[in-house]
Parts: sequence; structure tokens; C-alpha cells
Amino acid sequence: MLKNVLVAGASSGIGLATSRQLNTDGFCVYAGAQSFGEEQEAPEGFIMLPLDVTDDLSVQKTIKRILQRDGRIDALVNCAAFLTLGACEEVSAEELRLVMETNFLGMARMTRAVLPAMRERQYGRIVNISSLNGLFGIPFQGAYTASKHAIEGWSESLAQETRRFGIYVTVVEPGDCRGGSLKYRTRAKAAEQEMSPYAGRYKKTVDKIMHDEQNGICPERVARAISGILQSQFPPARRIIADPVQRSAVFLHTLLPHNVFNRMIEVYYAAGSIGARSEIKKSEGN
Ligand SMILES: NC(=O)c1ccc[n+]([C@@H]2O[C@H](COP(=O)([O-])OP(=O)(O)OC[C@H]3O[C@@H](n4cnc5c(N)ncnc54)[C@H](OP(=O)(O)O)[C@@H]3O)[C@@H](O)[C@H]2O)c1
Repeated sequence: MLKNVLVAGASSGIGLATSRQLNTDGFCVYAGAQSFGEEQEAPEGFIMLPLDVTDDLSVQKTIKRILQRDGRIDALVNCAAFLTLGACEEVSAEELRLVMETNFLGMARMTRAVLPAMRERQYGRIVNISSLNGLFGIPFQGAYTASKHAIEGWSESLAQETRRFGIYVTVVEPGDCRGGSLKYRTRAKAAEQEMSPYAGRYKKTVDKIMHDEQNGICPERVARAISGILQSQFPPARRIIADPVQRSAVFLHTLLPHNVFNRMIEVYYAAGSIGARSEIKKSEGN
């Protein structure tokens, strides 16, 4: 019997590329996303299921469906997430809560739901998609960074608890990656106000973030790495997937005094991207 895998957050970007790759590599793939309607087969052959990771009932229904059909879930890949841009001061408690609800609690909800069946079979693979933001902060991505740090810590505890049941947990930390949906790059209300004390720096930084993402690695590269992890007998606890420059930032984060590292990141993003610099210069003095 083919190994089956549930990919949560599979309608675009890394989740979609992973569903396609795993399908090609011979897995029986269940791809879940909010925007998927009733269960149907994708042209590539994997099964698309409606799934909202913020909703207990939706999560239970999806897991039950797979267990009724296959009697087991071999692997779970948690991809569902979104980004809210804005200064820590300006992201409201409600905006912060929404990010945590999907990115962290959604991942935890999915994981808790598959664990009983995995434990019973003494076999399971869980891949939680974090980010380089799970390792260090980036300006105006405080909410997202907090959610990814939460994933890192929670996954480490989880791995220590579940290995004896034959369940391996891997945290995947991609650098900037193109192909994500703009629908999931939201902006905090207060951050968009012209009067914001952060306005100039915010504009430049967001411009740089978007530029780097559009020029990032391709989602297929991350998908191939995830497939390799799921096929490995002893999957790694962590896997960074990034271009050499971003990978070097991870190294510098461990090497440099934290104040120096923070300043380096601040200066990098404050420069904005080349195309938009002159336009922004006219409108701000921050
Ligand atoms: N792109 C990057 O540069 C980058 C870098 C590092 C890490 N990552 C991480 O990689 C993962 C994928 O990001 P991406 O940029 O490749 O793709 P993306 O286009 O941002 O995809 C987000 C996915 O999450 C799903 N989703 C959002 N809320 C959901 C919910 N409540 N329930 C179920 N699904 C939900 C979306 O499905 P629906 O549209 O159907 O809701 C969509 O499939 C995320 O965890 C992200 O944090 C991305």
C-alpha cells in the first residue's frame, strides 16, 4: 500500500508544490486547504479536501475521512500560514491573535489530531514548515516571527516526546521562496496610515521583503527536500532550505553579538529595494 500523507495548506506555494512532488514520488496525497470545495481529484491525481486549520470540527472531519478510507495517516505536512506586515507597536492584539491562530495553533491542532492514530501504529512523520523567521526576527514581521518561533519550540518538545512511538518530527526552515499567494501577505491596519511614525521605514522594508520573496528560491526545491525527508528512515530534526546569502545570515546569527546582528538586519531592510528607493525618498524622512 502507498504511504499516505496529508498536506495542510496546499492551494498555493510550497504546499501545492509539495502535494505535486509527493504525488509524483508515489505517495497517496491528501491536499487540504480552506479554498478547496467538496472533495475532488486534482488533475495531477492527488485528492483535494476542504480544510480550515483554525476550526476543530473541520480538522476532525478531514482526519476522520482519511482514517475511514485508509485506516491510517503516515505523514502530515503543516504548511498553512499567513503573514501580517506591521510594526510590533501597530499590530493589534486581534491581528496578532489571527496570525497565531492559523500559523501556530493551526499547526498544533493538526498535529494533535493525527497523533493518536500514528501512536497506535508506532509510525508517523510530521513536517512543520517554519521559516528563517523561526530562527531570527525581521523588522515589521513581528507577528509572523513570533508564530514561527512558537512552531520551533513546540516542535522540539514534540519530537522529544514522540520519538519512542516511532514518530519523527522535522522542522523545515525555508528562506525567501517565490510562488506564495498575495492573499496571504496582509498588512496591519495601523501600519498603513501615512501618519504612522514607522511609515518610511515600513515602506522600504516591505518593499525589500516583497522583492526578496519574488526573487527567492522556487517552491519545488522545498518540495523535493520535504519528499526526501518523508522517505528517510531517520529524518532530520531541522532542515534549512535557503540560498547561500540567507543561509549565511543564520550562521551570523549564532556568531555575532545580538546587537550587532540586529543592526545588520535593520540596515539591510532599511535600504529597500533598488527600484523603489527614489520614489520612497520623495515621500519620507525616517
Ligand atoms: N514564501 C516564502 O517566502 C516562505 C518562506 C519561509 C516559509 N514559508 C512558509 O511556507 C508555507 C507556505 O507559504 P507559501 O508562501 O509557499 O504559500 P502561500 O501562498 O502563502 O500559502 C498559504 C497556504 O495556507 C493555506 N491556509 C491559510 N489559512 C488556512 C487555514 N485557516 N486553513 C487551511 N489552510 C490555510 C492557504 O490555503 P487557502 O488559500 O485555501 O486558504 C494556502 O494554501 C507557510 O507556512 C509559510 O509561512 C514561506
